[in-house]
Amino acid sequence: MWWKHLQDEQRDFHYYKMVVEKLFQIFPPIPTFGKSSSDRIKTCAVVGNSVNLKGSGYGHLIDLNDAIIRMNFAQIRGYEADVGTKTTHHVMYPESASDLDDTTKLVLFPFKIQDIEWLIKAFTTGFYGRSNPPIKSKIRANKDLVMVISPAFMRYVHEIWLQRKRAYPSTGFMVLVLALHVCDQVSVFGFGADSDGNWSHYFETLRNKRLKTGVHPGEDEYAMIQLLANKKTIKFYKGL
Ligand code: C5P
Repeated sequence: MWWKHLQDEQRDFHYYKMVVEKLFQIFPPIPTFGKSSSDRIKTCAVVGNSVNLKGSGYGHLIDLNDAIIRMNFAQIRGYEADVGTKTTHHVMYPESASDLDDTTKLVLFPFKIQDIEWLIKAFTTGFYGRSNPPIKSKIRANKDLVMVISPAFMRYVHEIWLQRKRAYPSTGFMVLVLALHVCDQVSVFGFGADSDGNWSHYFETLRNKRLKTGVHPGEDEYAMIQLLANKKTIKFYKGL
């Protein structure tokens, strides 16, 4: 399994398959929302968490899209003018989980078997396993609007889009590639490091000044985003 070396996964493929089977007992294998899953979405906004959204005034532009995809600790309240008000998809990991309203799709990018187990338990008995950092034991979200991305997708992005640079792609870059696969038109907001090269967020003050782009190939990702924008494959809103 590709993620074995990433997360020190001890359990084997057989165990993985058992967990996935359980997953499909709880969540509908074919999402029942909207039209059939083969239908593409017309316009999508991929909203990263970059500090360059601050003061951008992009809120209105973002809200105009059919799908608005946010991720991790994205905040709306207090930032509406810059980031918009709507969210159709919220991408998360157990470590960045937050409660959603009844109409927002929860998209999980599992990184290890425990992430899938967490999803099952967070919707049923509660997750009380060990984890560092601590993670939410229960989540409030619509069970029928849950999507789980195959770990094979992460590998595909890492190998094909980023030539295996650094440890693995960032959440935002994976979401962007996912959007290219399912949306006719992709607009990209909230990507780009601050003037010191750190991936700081619009909703908080950066504490770790040596963050850079973490374990991710931030510069390669940014170069690819610019290339896609130059080729007019995406619309890239660079922010301030
Ligand atoms: O930090 P977090 O992963 O929550 O941010 C979401 C995504 O937004 C990142 O994975 C990255 O792709 C993108 N980002 C960025 N520049 C920043 C902050 C985040 O490109 N300054």
